[in-house]
Amino acid sequence: MSSATAPITVAPHCNYPLRSEPPTSNKHILRWVDRIARLVEPDRIHWVDGSAEETDALFDMMVTKGQCLRLNPEKRPNSYLFRSDPRDVARVESRTFICSISKDDAGPTNHWLHPDIMKRRINEAARGCMRGRTLYVIPFSMGPAGSPISRVGIQLTDSPYAVVSMRIMTRVTPTVWEIIGESRDWVRCVHSVLRPILTETDDVPWPCCPEQTCIAHFPEERTILSIGSGYGGNALLGKKCFALRIAGTMGRDEGWLAEHMLILGVTDPSGKKTYITAAFPSACGKTNFAMMVPPASLADKGWKVTCVGDDIAWIKPDPNGRLRAINPEAGFFGVAPGTSKDTNPMAMACCARDTIFTNVALTEDGDVWWEGMTKEPPQRLIDWRGNPWTPGQTGPDGTPVPSSHPNSRFTAPAVNCPTLDPSWEDPAGVEIGAIVFGGRRMSTIPLVFQSFNWQHGVYLGATVASEQTAAAEGKVGELRRDPFAMLPFCGYHMGDYFRHWLKMGKMVTDPPRIFHVNWFRRGEDGSWLWPGFGENMRVLKWIVDRVNGRGQARETQLGWMPRHDDLEWEGLHFPRERWDELMRIDPETLLAQTLGHEELFLKLWDHMPKELLWQRDLLISRY
Ligand code: GTP
Ligand code: SPV
Ligand code: MN
Repeated sequence: MSSATAPITVAPHCNYPLRSEPPTSNKHILRWVDRIARLVEPDRIHWVDGSAEETDALFDMMVTKGQCLRLNPEKRPNSYLFRSDPRDVARVESRTFICSISKDDAGPTNHWLHPDIMKRRINEAARGCMRGRTLYVIPFSMGPAGSPISRVGIQLTDSPYAVVSMRIMTRVTPTVWEIIGESRDWVRCVHSVLRPILTETDDVPWPCCPEQTCIAHFPEERTILSIGSGYGGNALLGKKCFALRIAGTMGRDEGWLAEHMLILGVTDPSGKKTYITAAFPSACGKTNFAMMVPPASLADKGWKVTCVGDDIAWIKPDPNGRLRAINPEAGFFGVAPGTSKDTNPMAMACCARDTIFTNVALTEDGDVWWEGMTKEPPQRLIDWRGNPWTPGQTGPDGTPVPSSHPNSRFTAPAVNCPTLDPSWEDPAGVEIGAIVFGGRRMSTIPLVFQSFNWQHGVYLGATVASEQTAAAEGKVGELRRDPFAMLPFCGYHMGDYFRHWLKMGKMVTDPPRIFHVNWFRRGEDGSWLWPGFGENMRVLKWIVDRVNGRGQARETQLGWMPRHDDLEWEGLHFPRERWDELMRIDPETLLAQTLGHEELFLKLWDHMPKELLWQRDLLISRY
């Protein structure tokens, strides 16, 4: 029988320091760890303290075992390269479940299984899965440790990669034990890479078990169980699992929002700062937008952008009737390909040191490279699978083989960002002036427009669509509806989530203005119509001007749109015809698309708020 004080065994022979004594006397925690340990049967338990010495020792161990490479310290100080199993390179939405007690609570956009059945399945798969290995206990805080808006969690994992990554992405600190005290108030996260039992040693470079991968959320119990995958959002449970899916249900119950949004600050020439959040689906430009560097012509006039967060925002009403946002994370898990000194110099600065790279290419001098980092690729590389690679290399079918996986990532501490906003850790959060939605849309959707009001804005969020990227499994390029960029991350019924958004607008006296952008419209020849990246500042300036009551616009069927003259063009030659093509509204195509919104609404029908159905009717009647 397990008891609260059952001794927790620590193996004597290990080549890095282990804490033998649990750093907490909380009987709920000790019982829980004990219960999981009895199931997975690790050789030893390590209570993580997040110290630099501990992290160095973990990296040393992983380097020794061949699980990662230490990069050239002169080129990339304190940085490491991991190559994942080629079957474990992205989130696995088809194996991600919301296990609420009622199936109706999960809604038709989530996979669901009854919690008891799911737990039985996972327990069967996990029995004895950590034999011969170490169980790490990671105490972490989402948001600054001890702040009233922060929430804490404990992740149990057998992946040292997850330990060192969580230490960058969240606040891993023993303070969490004090915050929890004797309470039960923490999010339970259990993770295992689940190697086939007893058939392999721990020394495979990237242990995982794709056939058995399963990421299960139990919203009523604030618990996450994830097995089989060691990658990103499947394994760093503080990120999408906790900070979006579980926090989303907390927000629904408590009156706040957990969103897949970046947060940035814009300082205008008068010195006034306006904070903006933006939701774009995975791999659609959040990190780039959050770290934007304004073009010289605007920077010279005093426009400045600072970064609060690049992926997740927790948004709450304040006593003054405004919405305020915090970034619950402490690092960036950014898409590597396409990142360069030209497109995103701030991201390049972030990953200049203290960074974990996953699935990028290795250069001959022990540095990293990926597609788009420089115009000319190095002459010789080791690709993300560990094989020699030369420029122009093609696969058996003649198509070019990239040196880095399209979803390869850097994991870098937020404090490395030169444009990090001074208020990024303010426990009160930053006041939000505007919310921006966007997707990757080759055609039809213009560069930018503003909603008529909050309800219309919620409609824009609810009908976001985007072409599929490599950040999740699936066919790249296919258009899918991705409401609020939250389709894979909403922990409850999407219809209830829309209703919650409508309610939030009523909870504040001065709601943020809502906008829609599309950086990805293409011309007839297939090339981007809009230069994007830093030039997005021109759109951002218009948005900030609108929020502050000085931007001009004309009314269209879609919403308020800038005319050519309403944008600042100094320093950019952008022909008028190109602008017209970029902003063109084709009523027939748009009408067809609007009618197409019905597909999602019908799916959510019994939970759909009436306001959004009326918004759809209004939109149709405007064509
Ligand atoms: P997640 O981390 O998956 O949530 O992605 P993200 O939304 O942070 O996307 P990110 O900023 O990493 O951008 C993904 C890809 O979009 C990269 O390859 C970028 O080069 C590209 N991208 C970003 N901004 C722009 C833009 O303004 N124009 C164009 N054409 N491409 C862009
Ligand atoms: C995303 O896919 O939106 C990401 C990467 O930010 S992951 O952490 O894997 O979810
Ligand atoms: Mn994301």
